[in-house]
Amino acid sequence: MQDIIRQLEAKRAAARAGGGERRIQAQHKKGKLGARERLEILLDEGSFEEWDMFVEHRCSDFGMTETRVPGDGVVTGYGTVNGRLVFVFSQDFTVFGGSLSEAHAEKICKIMDKALQVGAPVVGLNDSGGARIQEGVASLAGYAEVFQRNVTASGVVPQISMIMGPCAGGAVYSPAMTDFIFMVKDSSYMFVTGPDVVKTVTHETVTHEELGGAVTHTTKSGVADLAFENDVEALIELRRFIDFLPASNGSGVPRRPSEDPAGREERSLDSLVPADPSKPYDMKELIGKVVDEGDFFELQPSYAGNIVIGFGRMEGSTVGIVANQPLVLAGCLDIASSIKAARFVRFCDCFDIPIVTFVDVPGFLPGTAQEYGGIIKHGAKLLFAFAEATVPKVTLITRKAYGGAYDVMSSKHLRGDVNFAWPSAEIAVMGPKGAVEIIFRADIGDTAKIEARTEEYREKFANPFVAASRGFIDDVISPHETRRRLCNALAMLRDKQLENPWKKHDNLPL
Ligand code: HXC
Repeated sequence: MQDIIRQLEAKRAAARAGGGERRIQAQHKKGKLGARERLEILLDEGSFEEWDMFVEHRCSDFGMTETRVPGDGVVTGYGTVNGRLVFVFSQDFTVFGGSLSEAHAEKICKIMDKALQVGAPVVGLNDSGGARIQEGVASLAGYAEVFQRNVTASGVVPQISMIMGPCAGGAVYSPAMTDFIFMVKDSSYMFVTGPDVVKTVTHETVTHEELGGAVTHTTKSGVADLAFENDVEALIELRRFIDFLPASNGSGVPRRPSEDPAGREERSLDSLVPADPSKPYDMKELIGKVVDEGDFFELQPSYAGNIVIGFGRMEGSTVGIVANQPLVLAGCLDIASSIKAARFVRFCDCFDIPIVTFVDVPGFLPGTAQEYGGIIKHGAKLLFAFAEATVPKVTLITRKAYGGAYDVMSSKHLRGDVNFAWPSAEIAVMGPKGAVEIIFRADIGDTAKIEARTEEYREKFANPFVAASRGFIDDVISPHETRRRLCNALAMLRDKQLENPWKKHDNLPL
């Protein structure tokens, strides 16, 4: 028995050694942690249960028979994050560059299948040179098996991809189909074709970082949700992020005790909206002041800043927050912001996370760039997402709610459950100036007349009371009581039941 135990320990040691000391040093030199070191930070101490430590590749071409490493370049299993179950895979770049063999893919598929059965999130720490070149189509088949599971698991368990090294070619499509993508600055990149191919085909000279680094994907493409400075920060923040997520679509949102009183008043909110309607203010100040302990986990903060999305808690329960941001493009909806928010709303709806929407939107962004880019179709995504969502929806209009954008932003007409407005709200087809210039075009030279008409329009529509008189707004509330009113509404809606009619799936305007 002692011999067998020794053999077992030797095998385990070989697996833990990965690609060997030299390659581990090289990994550290690049500022990257090893696959197991990363799991040690991500998971609660001592909670990791590893599977398939002894799996080896089955390739015998290109001298591969002599190069078998137990585990085959990926560490898989399950553990807990702050006591809550998660399934994980962590690719080991020191073993064949973390490349995906058939056996490596089978290991990932095994934990995904189990995560789906027991209802727990899947977290992938990606650090891979892509398909294992020596294995050819077997490796491509392995990727496709993972892709299929990404799709099957979508909307059933949360899937998170942390990109911590290379991720190129078709390999990018597994993270792309997960719910959230996080990246590490300067050591991770994602692209479909790398700088060399780009140079040959389009004659553009571009570095890895410029083409597909963390900054590029969190500011230009919107592919990734967040960029972190290094592995340690990324993994610690990932733990914080997981705390907000439901385990599955059947588990409901996580709840934890909150010290923050639901009735907390914020007098400073009474002066948040400037008297001049053309002056911006920071919507994030409102978010920070209403969520529990000011703890707001923002996603995509550096992309499409005209809309803010992220998670917070109200009375200890997770809520998704969607908010127009008057500081950027005056809070207009455009292509990028519509897509950003639509995907977030759909995530919340999949996982029964109530949505709190803060509205200050002057309309859709005008211009040829937007029209040629398909704002009609992309703007419809957000409209569609809010309209199909059956989770509790609580909306607050702080200032402008103009035109189609009023309808889009979780209005009463899209089954908004509780719709509030501050007294500063202006709910109309458009702003007073634009409206008067259209309906009183003949008077345009006559300044006095135009001013009188503008004032008349402002009195009629630049307030929340017309909408409130129709019941489109349930109540006009004082800014300082916002947290209490939102908490009350969310508590009332906790057991909301609403179902869409049976369908195979809808046909979101893609
Ligand atoms: C097998 C690989 C590998 C791969 C890297 N290695 N990528 N082995 N298959 N795909 C091995 C190397 O041989 C090397 O082994 C070790 O990993 C580290 O690689 P280096 O090149 O020394 O490291 P580095 O300089 O950091 O460069 C990393 C890299 C580069 C940029 C990822 O290795 C590279 O370009 N690899 C090929 C990437 C690629 O084209 N993959 C296919 C993409 S297409 P030793 O023994 O020397 O340590 C794809 C299709 C997916 O993935 C399709 C899904 C549908």
